Amino acid sequence: MSEMERTRTAGTSIPPAVREDERTRQQLFLEELKTCIEQRKQETGRTPSFHITTMGCQMNARDSEKLAGVLTEIGAEETETEEADILLFNTCTVRENANQKLYGHLGQIKHFKNDHPDMLIGICGCMMQEADEVVRVRTSYRFVDLVFGTHNLWRFPELLYSCLAEKHRVIDTEERADDYADHMPVKRKLSFKSGVNITYGCNNFCTYCIVPYVRGRERSREPEDILAEIRALVKDGVKEVMLLGQNVNSYGKTLEIPVSFADLLRRTCRIGGLERIRFMTPHPKDLSDDLIEVMRTEPKVCRHIHLPLQSGSSRILERMNRHYTKESYLALVRRIRDKIPEIAVTTDIIVGFPGETEEDFQDTLDVVREVGYQAAFTFIYSKRTGTPAADFPDQADPEEVADRMKRLIDLVQSFASKAADRDTGKTLPVLVEEVNGQKEGYVSGRLSNNLMVHFPGDASLVGQIVDVELTESRGFYYMGRRRDQIWVI
Ligand code: 5AD
Ligand code: SF4
Repeated sequence: MSEMERTRTAGTSIPPAVREDERTRQQLFLEELKTCIEQRKQETGRTPSFHITTMGCQMNARDSEKLAGVLTEIGAEETETEEADILLFNTCTVRENANQKLYGHLGQIKHFKNDHPDMLIGICGCMMQEADEVVRVRTSYRFVDLVFGTHNLWRFPELLYSCLAEKHRVIDTEERADDYADHMPVKRKLSFKSGVNITYGCNNFCTYCIVPYVRGRERSREPEDILAEIRALVKDGVKEVMLLGQNVNSYGKTLEIPVSFADLLRRTCRIGGLERIRFMTPHPKDLSDDLIEVMRTEPKVCRHIHLPLQSGSSRILERMNRHYTKESYLALVRRIRDKIPEIAVTTDIIVGFPGETEEDFQDTLDVVREVGYQAAFTFIYSKRTGTPAADFPDQADPEEVADRMKRLIDLVQSFASKAADRDTGKTLPVLVEEVNGQKEGYVSGRLSNNLMVHFPGDASLVGQIVDVELTESRGFYYMGRRRDQIWVI
């Protein structure tokens, strides 16, 4: 197999006319791929299968839906296991252990490929925007056939064609970020709920974070494009959308006609048939009063806000380049709760950032106590080469960090179970997501505040919003029963 390696370097932005051409070109590859898959089908007597293993955040989950969209459109069939004809790993690189996990896993996959040489293995996503990782895959994992990053996701049909039809090993990375991926076909994981990108990339450069380097500078999509996409989703059965951006608060500031995130949210609420709106993630440094007002007045906006704290110490927050303090964060939570008392607040916290002392950590615990998060994602600081914090002195002692982590989790959990007890006895709307895999005759769904509820029901309820009485809190979720199942004698 010959090898095609290409690194496209940063340049000026592509003019719109060329963009159109590029989209049309990808469409042509898509058509060619249909023939290619059909041929394979004839040869083997079965439909080629595909599987995508997705790591990381909602952005990656959405990208995977686009990859699945292309693969479905060309005639391949999605399968539950990694023993597929086309296997893609959509990677995350936010923390080091995700990288280690992937390499470990690739070792196992190699054995499977030895017995199935026609299998195509691809790696894409954030990790493949890092030059060192691409070199590692290229040289040490020769059985990987296709490598591409987030910046050239839109080129997937062309790259897949080179692999499948022309039998090349393709390593294609791009330093420049463009947004053609908006126009890719999509196969949603869930028919009734969808993520919608509103911005790509990030300009915040928190000192620990690799995202700005692998996802590029922040770009906002035009509001009309976003609203048109949501309208089409609603027509296709979607009841809930999640607006996605690394910092949704900065949405629209650089558009030719600037639009605020609060305004975009207001306009999204006007879409008939759309029942629930979530968003991820607002940065605590610039969350506007106008946004709080929209959340308060618009019932479609879910009663949940994810407000990453990272650290409760103002000293550490400054070193993290977060642009807020312990006090201003707490004041923001108070402002939100004043207006929307029933709102659930969740967060991300990093333990063991370079230079974090016990006193700094106590500040984090203070904030956890004061806010009483419904849930918190807790991470041990992971040194990411290329970020400023990787070069900071006094990297933390692992034993001390492990001990802090344990204390943090204990505290978070004690508050989380209290938060989940607040609504016991109430009847609230639940969007049913799935048939419960563990308890027969039950389904599971989410409240507006994002907590799970399990209650008796069958597959016909999936995708519907139904009123459920929350009969019992079990720490992090509720058991319930449908209102119309309660008989009054
Ligand atoms: N180490 C640990 N956690 C990190 N996060 C981002 N970068 C790092 C890192 N280098 C966490 C932050 C962020 C979440 C998505 O991942 O808490 O909010
Ligand atoms: Fe990373 Fe900070 Fe951007 Fe979030 S806001 S993606 S933590 S740099």
